[in-house]
Amino acid sequence: MSSSGEAELLHTFKGIPFTTRSSPELLKSLDTFDAREDDVLLVSYPKSGTHWLAGVITKLYNTQVTITSPIEFGDISQLEELNKLSSKRIIPTHLDYNMLPPNFKNKKCKMIYISRNPKDTAVSMFHYYRDNPNLPTIDTWTAFFDLFLKGNVVCGSWFDHFLSWEEHEDEKNILFLFYEDMKKDLPKVVKEITLFLSLNVSDNDIQDICKKSSFSEMKNDTEKENSDPSHTVCALTSNRKLIFRKGAVGDWKNYFTPKQNIRFQEIFNEKMKLSKM
Ligand code: A3P
Repeated sequence: MSSSGEAELLHTFKGIPFTTRSSPELLKSLDTFDAREDDVLLVSYPKSGTHWLAGVITKLYNTQVTITSPIEFGDISQLEELNKLSSKRIIPTHLDYNMLPPNFKNKKCKMIYISRNPKDTAVSMFHYYRDNPNLPTIDTWTAFFDLFLKGNVVCGSWFDHFLSWEEHEDEKNILFLFYEDMKKDLPKVVKEITLFLSLNVSDNDIQDICKKSSFSEMKNDTEKENSDPSHTVCALTSNRKLIFRKGAVGDWKNYFTPKQNIRFQEIFNEKMKLSKM
């Protein structure tokens, strides 16, 4: 990673690297953010399937809902914009549990956490670093692999992020989803989401929504649309064209050397020893 790039594009808040698209003032004022009881949060570590989940969820509602920009995106005026919204808000975020505005927790807002095999997440994030001008330059996969394992990447350590949320997995207002389950049986996961959100959606409509949410359909839709820089689902870019890369399970096998796999596994086992995963 070029150090000048890093200095310009990232800053650290409470020990976690953010891009300059999340202003320090905004991050500081999150603690006082006013949540509403019917807010729904879409939570993820970057590259876990956030856009996919957001695409599915918007199609489930037949009332007016707004997928807002992430709560940590922009400068402080963004929070005022969020406050002004009259419709129901679906709010994406990459924040770890400890940084989440306490009001969401106090008001028991519904939260959906999507997670993905961290090996595939790392590979996806490596490409994102290479393609996304808002992220520092990365020269090689080997260099990125080290940074990822150390948690020296935007949004910090995958392990810390996952564990911070997993601790709350049993709370009734939190639903845990896995990218791999969505790949395996999307209608089943969508049904689970509708039950969690108390939405009445027929099985036929679920099938239809799943077809429209396939990787190829979503990628095609994105090619046709013009990106709006003031609106995004991911605080790290407003360019959706950077999102739909491969959409596969197991791509890590094309990148990890056997040695890297052993090292990853050792660290995974150590960090996740108290996890149910
Ligand atoms: P890859 O880089 O492995 O292709 P996020 O939205 O959190 O940034 O996650 C992006 C990852 O989700 C990318 O992974 C992207 O291709 C994948 N993705 C997006 N839409 C998808 C879909 N409809 N089906 C499967 N994967 C999808």
